[in-house]
Amino acid sequence: MSDSLKQVLLLGGGGREHALAWKLAQSPAVDAIHAMPGNDGMATLAKVTCLAGNPADVATVMAVVKNLGIGLVVIGPEKPLEAGVADALNAANIPVMGPTKDGAKLESSKIFAKEFMSKFGIPTASFKVCDDHAAALAALKDWDIEGAGIVIKADGLSAGKGVVVTHDRAEAVQTLFDFMVNPACTVKSSRILLEQKLSGKEVSAFALCDGETFTTLGFVCDYKRVRDHDQGPNTGGMGGYAPKGWPSDAARQFVNDCVFRRVIDGMKKRGTPFRGILFAGLMIDGEQVNVIEFNTRFGDPETQILMPLIENDIAPLFLKAAQGKLGADKVTLRASAAVHVVMASEGYPETFAGTMKLGQKIDLPEKLLDGSNDNLLFVMGAKKKDGGWTNEGGRVLGVTALGANIDDARASAYRAIDSIKFNGAHWRKDIGK
Ligand code: AMP
Ligand code: GLY
Repeated sequence: MSDSLKQVLLLGGGGREHALAWKLAQSPAVDAIHAMPGNDGMATLAKVTCLAGNPADVATVMAVVKNLGIGLVVIGPEKPLEAGVADALNAANIPVMGPTKDGAKLESSKIFAKEFMSKFGIPTASFKVCDDHAAALAALKDWDIEGAGIVIKADGLSAGKGVVVTHDRAEAVQTLFDFMVNPACTVKSSRILLEQKLSGKEVSAFALCDGETFTTLGFVCDYKRVRDHDQGPNTGGMGGYAPKGWPSDAARQFVNDCVFRRVIDGMKKRGTPFRGILFAGLMIDGEQVNVIEFNTRFGDPETQILMPLIENDIAPLFLKAAQGKLGADKVTLRASAAVHVVMASEGYPETFAGTMKLGQKIDLPEKLLDGSNDNLLFVMGAKKKDGGWTNEGGRVLGVTALGANIDDARASAYRAIDSIKFNGAHWRKDIGK
């Protein structure tokens, strides 16, 4: 088996993939990690080489796999999953850590995910699927919007813009018009989901799945709004931490038994066994756990928090999951707390194209990048140019600090952040507080 691990292909090029490359590079079984397209941060690691190419192009990926004698493919982002990269690799008998197109539907179709959850007894908010605008308006008439609230969701992937949570009937009517009729709206959906509004605290849970069984990777709380105290627009995530002592052991057990186990069994029953990472967005209210959504891949920045916390060698576990041979193997986590802070460019999140301030020189202590400290710097959207670094994306850098407790980890993360400077840089000051 370790032979298969000698040459690993990692698809993607953000902070998530930098964290995966950093973790995989520590495996004695891994000789080389080829990242497509990778980034200049992970390229500083001795075992990592970056390859130009589109990771969602099946033919490109298959050619690289053949030419380099790749024994394991690890897929970071959702695009290669939707494009069927895992299906092609499965057909060629190349171990791949990532689900088939069918498995990825748990993320790419919110309606598929809800119908799957109700069929297999996975706890989630009650809902109604509407196939056209008239049906959606009719369903709205009977809905106790002012009392129970309502969440309106467009069916497909819409980069976080396809969900509106409201108590307001007028806003609900307007949202249905926008998503289903209004040509000026960027979200378009012929089918719509109406959902009961849940309350509680949100947390994401991650599991590594092999089609038959799974091992839990951990829980992460993230920060979606751009400014402190959850102000400002939504982002892909501005930071996060791994909570300790919450959710309770009973809630964690419930997630294993009633979420992960049921997804694995349900997908197997459908004839589409799920292999890869299952990322469950949960709402927890007291002991009550509900699933808000699934993603079928690692989160970014969540992966930058999880990888440093994992104690064991992840490479053989990824391979076993890809081969359906996880058995009783488990991921073990360090006792440390972890806090992660994202530094973003001026103008992020960008509402109007071209308003972000990119190409700024970044002043950063290179020793943060060597990956051997309790302070880890992951590159999300930065490039090395003329021997120095510049920002090239909205989310630029992520710092993860480990500590004996959250307070220590937070202090350490912000010390590292304070040592990095670029024009227009902004970050949240309240992560893990
Ligand atoms: P989703 O894209 O489905 O994860 O939804 C985006 C965000 O909307 C979630 O992270 C929640 O904060 C919120 N949300 C989605 N569904 C619900 C719900 N049923 N009740 C309350 N909030 C929700
Ligand atoms: N941080 C959320 C995601 O990766 O979708």
